[in-house]
Amino acid sequence: MTTQDSPTSRLTTTAGAPVADNQNSLTAGDRGPVLIQDWQLIEKLAHQNRERIPERVVHAKGWGAYGTLRITGDISHLTCADVLQPGTVTPMIARFSTVAGEAGAADHERDVRGFALKFYTNEGNWDLVGNNTPVFFVRDPLKFPDFIHTQKRHPRTNLRSPTAMWDFWSLSPESLHQVTILFSDRGLPVSPMHMNGYGSHTYSLWNNEGTRVWVKFHFKTRQGHRHYTNSEAQDVVGRTREGYQEALFGAIEAGEFPQWTVEVQIMTQNEAEAFAFNPFDLTKIWPHAEFPPIKIGVLELDRNPDNYFAEIEQLAFSPSNVVRGIGHSPDRMLQGRIFSYADAHRYRLGTHYEALPVNRPRCPVHHYHKDGAMRFFDAAANPDAYYEPNSLDGPQQDASFAEPTFDLQGPVGRFDHRDGNDDFIQPRALFQLFDQEQKDRLYANIATAMCGVPAAITERQIRLFHRVHPDFGAGVCAALDAMDPQF
Ligand code: HEM
Repeated sequence: MTTQDSPTSRLTTTAGAPVADNQNSLTAGDRGPVLIQDWQLIEKLAHQNRERIPERVVHAKGWGAYGTLRITGDISHLTCADVLQPGTVTPMIARFSTVAGEAGAADHERDVRGFALKFYTNEGNWDLVGNNTPVFFVRDPLKFPDFIHTQKRHPRTNLRSPTAMWDFWSLSPESLHQVTILFSDRGLPVSPMHMNGYGSHTYSLWNNEGTRVWVKFHFKTRQGHRHYTNSEAQDVVGRTREGYQEALFGAIEAGEFPQWTVEVQIMTQNEAEAFAFNPFDLTKIWPHAEFPPIKIGVLELDRNPDNYFAEIEQLAFSPSNVVRGIGHSPDRMLQGRIFSYADAHRYRLGTHYEALPVNRPRCPVHHYHKDGAMRFFDAAANPDAYYEPNSLDGPQQDASFAEPTFDLQGPVGRFDHRDGNDDFIQPRALFQLFDQEQKDRLYANIATAMCGVPAAITERQIRLFHRVHPDFGAGVCAALDAMDPQF
């Protein structure tokens, strides 16, 4: 067989017909115009026009790879989750991202990093869609779209607006903890491999006896923490805007597989009731001294995707994807997210996004969802059982997977989430962990980010920093005073 005859090397149309000429359009004469009957040209131009899908409304710039989760610890008394049983190795895929930048943004921007994981477990997909920080800027999902507006472009200037960012933050003291992390060294990791990941929210684990405990998931980098200063990052971005993609893709191609130690913090329901804070408040951590992290496994990334668009751009994570033995919690941010992600995917990718190869569970899937755009997956084994209940042996519910109940109580209302919440104590504890050099960089990073922001806003924010710690407020003031007034 010659190369020409080989089926893999012969160019075809999307309908499979061999293409005789892929260089010259069909024209009327050798100098004449193109004919509209050149369906080959039309197919190419039309496909090109459809090569883009909406980018993620947040976390648009990302980098991802496949790997495994290996469970080495034993928390089988706390959870019946198949994926968390000792010795279990589960295939998974990770996507890291920045939050604010568009799909073409430079990788080395100071921003929170997304740390999203999809575990293809034997009992369905479990998604942990976290960040490289254990807390978040807001604690009520009603504020999330407003917050994101301040991170994206101004509607008139089409520029990022430090004024909007600091206006919002200075009016939202619950953001102080995350703001302190963002402008600290940890706000600009060198690569995805050199940062931790956090599930961030409080989730729950439940066992076969129906006992539930609250849990937080942490992924501690085994490559060590490495960060750039603002000026180092500027140099990098001057050389390459794709530093994270180069680092992650390059390391995996070179066989240097990054690893993270997987840890959980556990809180019983009684401990939750006695805890000094609301354990479901996403702006707070659980102190390690009170709730010591327990090592349960290792996450390793060892394979690059073959096609970025198909496997990373079409990847769809959702905090709603939990499996038997793992549950949600009363964290109201989590409830907002349980709605938001699948809704985003139906818009961004289409109705049957979960049947795409990268999103498809690796266990059997049997549901009664029927038609819709791009309905491409195999028909059910029993085509007559297309409704439920039926007497045709179609798929049925299985009560052995039922999640235990938990109690909720109280009057329905819109309660002020700031009432009785101390927004200063945890940022203060974090600030006090920094040595003087780290504090100096924190002040300088904040002062730089406040460039051009009206004084009324910076003063309001400095009053908040002052309440965290007088040195924090004074340090930012001094850094602002030291800035070049031309800047
Ligand atoms: C992406 C909504 C809070 C981490 C997204 C997307 C939406 C969204 C709509 C795009 C999804 C897509 O198109 O595939 C929200 C809402 C939030 C919230 C409504 C609060 C109410 C958070 C928090 C975290 C987080 C607290 C981390 C702890 C991420 C990550 C991605 C993402 C990592 C990118 C996932 C990927 O790589 O595909 N978010 N988000 N988000 N969000 Fe959130």
